[in-house]
Amino acid sequence: MKAIARDRYGPADVLDLRDIDTPSIGEDEVLVKVRAAGVDPGVWILMTGRPMAVRLAVGLRRPKVAVLGRDVAGVVAAVGAGVTRLRPGDEVFGTCGSGSFAEYATARQHRLAPKPANLTFVQAAATPISAVTALQSVRDARVQPGQRVLVTGAAGGVGSFAVQLLKVYGARVTGVCSTSKIELVRSIGAEDVIDYTQHEIDRGGAQYDIIIDTAGSRPLPLLRRALTPHGTIALVGGGHAKGWLLGGFQRQMAAPLLSLFGGQRVCGVTARERYEDLEELTPLIESGSVTPVIDRTYALADAPDAIRYLAQGHPAGKVVVTV
Ligand SMILES: NC(=O)c1ccc[n+]([C@@H]2O[C@H](COP(=O)([O-])OP(=O)(O)OC[C@H]3O[C@@H](n4cnc5c(N)ncnc54)[C@H](OP(=O)(O)O)[C@@H]3O)[C@@H](O)[C@H]2O)c1
Repeated sequence: MKAIARDRYGPADVLDLRDIDTPSIGEDEVLVKVRAAGVDPGVWILMTGRPMAVRLAVGLRRPKVAVLGRDVAGVVAAVGAGVTRLRPGDEVFGTCGSGSFAEYATARQHRLAPKPANLTFVQAAATPISAVTALQSVRDARVQPGQRVLVTGAAGGVGSFAVQLLKVYGARVTGVCSTSKIELVRSIGAEDVIDYTQHEIDRGGAQYDIIIDTAGSRPLPLLRRALTPHGTIALVGGGHAKGWLLGGFQRQMAAPLLSLFGGQRVCGVTARERYEDLEELTPLIESGSVTPVIDRTYALADAPDAIRYLAQGHPAGKVVVTV
């Protein structure tokens, strides 16, 4: 099969389109004929091996998995003997282990769910990591109806889902984005928008009950200044280029300590990939309350360009590779 693969860590130039064996499946695994694969900042991290701490999990000197790509949408081609939830022919979405920038990918069954009926494969591939991260952030922050919530990176992958989910939870949302994304952020449900190129997020004083910080570009003291005295900050993004060892993830790790001082709560979000969350999102997607925002699609051979584009840090929604 054709796949975008590499033998070493590095920039997108290390990737090439090659013919490799179709992956085999274990007892608990599903073989998916890939129709589309989502691109998210995690792909850049796995490609570069930066921050270095990720290499403990994915290969110290060279990547253990040659093919890139985590988010997947496609059709089940085969299932292992222990798979009970899915059958060949099912249309699915979720995250895979063998790399989704390929004609076939394998995934553990508990990382896949039936594709929402109203989504194209491109929309479905855009959803798993970003929407599940957004859902878990909203849940971890314990959002209540009527609360005022600020979302940084509101036009990005996680942020564009977070804004829509917060509306489902009954929150009053202010999105933070750059000038060209203002209309987009309003169109997905934000009542108010802060253009960060013109204003700082604490322009109105301490007024937000919750801040969901996906952009990770503002220092914590500034986030605290925009938050009510007993408000909550959910730290999602660390900024993928910051810090060679932890890449900004130290903020998430330090969150429990940071909550010890003052009345504000700081929680570090570490997304867990679970089919239960995909299934929780499905009725919201099928009812039209949540719709993936697609910025661009790229053909499989152009996946390196998709990653280069995303790495610039300013997508309008999601970037997807079609297979
Ligand atoms: N904790 C977890 O488990 C978890 C899970 C998934 C992702 N993440 C992390 O969350 C972050 C966001 O992921 P994503 O998929 O949403 O990324 P993305 O799609 O690339 O979006 C990045 C967003 O950051 C904004 N941004 C860039 N530079 C900025 C600046 N200087 N000031 C303010 N905003 C700025 C962009 O807004 P404009 O285009 O308007 O500039 C864009 O909306 C990444 O760091 C990712 O690694 C964490």
